[in-house]
Amino acid sequence: MAATNIEVWQSATVIETVSVADGILRIVLEPTLPKRAEPGSHIDLKVSINGEETKRSYSVVESSQDGTRLVISVMRAPLSRGGSIFMHQLLVGQRLEITQPLQNFPLRVGAQHYLLLAGGIGITAIANMAAVLKRLKADYTLVYVGRSREAMAYLDELSELHGDRLQVHVDAEGTSLKVPELVGRADEQTELYMCGPIRLMDAVRRNWVERELDLPNLRYETFGNSGWYDPEEFIVRVPKLDLEVRVPQGRSMLEALEDAGAEMMFDCRKGECGLCEVRVIELSGTIDHRDVFYSERQQRLSTKMNCCVSRAVTSATGSRADAEAGPAIITIEPN
Ligand code: FES
Repeated sequence: MAATNIEVWQSATVIETVSVADGILRIVLEPTLPKRAEPGSHIDLKVSINGEETKRSYSVVESSQDGTRLVISVMRAPLSRGGSIFMHQLLVGQRLEITQPLQNFPLRVGAQHYLLLAGGIGITAIANMAAVLKRLKADYTLVYVGRSREAMAYLDELSELHGDRLQVHVDAEGTSLKVPELVGRADEQTELYMCGPIRLMDAVRRNWVERELDLPNLRYETFGNSGWYDPEEFIVRVPKLDLEVRVPQGRSMLEALEDAGAEMMFDCRKGECGLCEVRVIELSGTIDHRDVFYSERQQRLSTKMNCCVSRAVTSATGSRADAEAGPAIITIEPN
């Protein structure tokens, strides 16, 4: 399916909100310029955080045929920068500014076998794909991974719809996913679509490469907000602009630099396009690369970073081994 990414903004009314798992809210929207959402699409949406308007992206979990109803689901992030809190406070009847559905995770119809992998809230990007593959009578398996059943949205609905094609792995029940086994089921005719935490996606990517499977058959969507380490406050220095900025836990480096008046380049704000890249001149600490733009080698080198999602942490373990050490400090040259 062709990717369409022309942003058409419109208003939409919230017509339903309902809790579908621990901390996850299902929100049904009725847009004024309806357009059906193809599987893998998302909408951008304006949220207000501390009186300031900013943009967030949410996968479309379901769409009516005519696009008059779009469903998204939002997890209340424990370290929310404000967006998920705003979304969880929405009331029925409230109006929002949203885009028509945008697509950068298209489902290619016609593969012989499909593996769909969803980790946690990543199910929001995968559920619609699974529904379409079922309608098309395709050969697919939906693998859904979570910490506990209570935290996994739509489990009952998915089980009813997909029956044996759904495989559930729950950490709390000791049935965690074994990535090599999953990837071992793929062959040259298999396409794997995944969305979930970066560690899970990275493990799949590594196994995929080890098995020398075609990389174009491995497709993923990222939320650009999960990293290898818990986010910490750190300091960014920009000698060229004579700036020293504190990046709090709940704010991205890009946002903190913008707040300080730096003119930054960016596009996706999700670690996908590389436009917000900055050059790292000096570093006390470690870079927690959270993008999917760089290769493993580039991330290891750490001479550049995508500042919309990637952060600095104090130590290679991510834990503050030495409480006296103070925050990580990174000196950069902007794009
Ligand atoms: S804005 Fe696209 S990677 Fe940062």
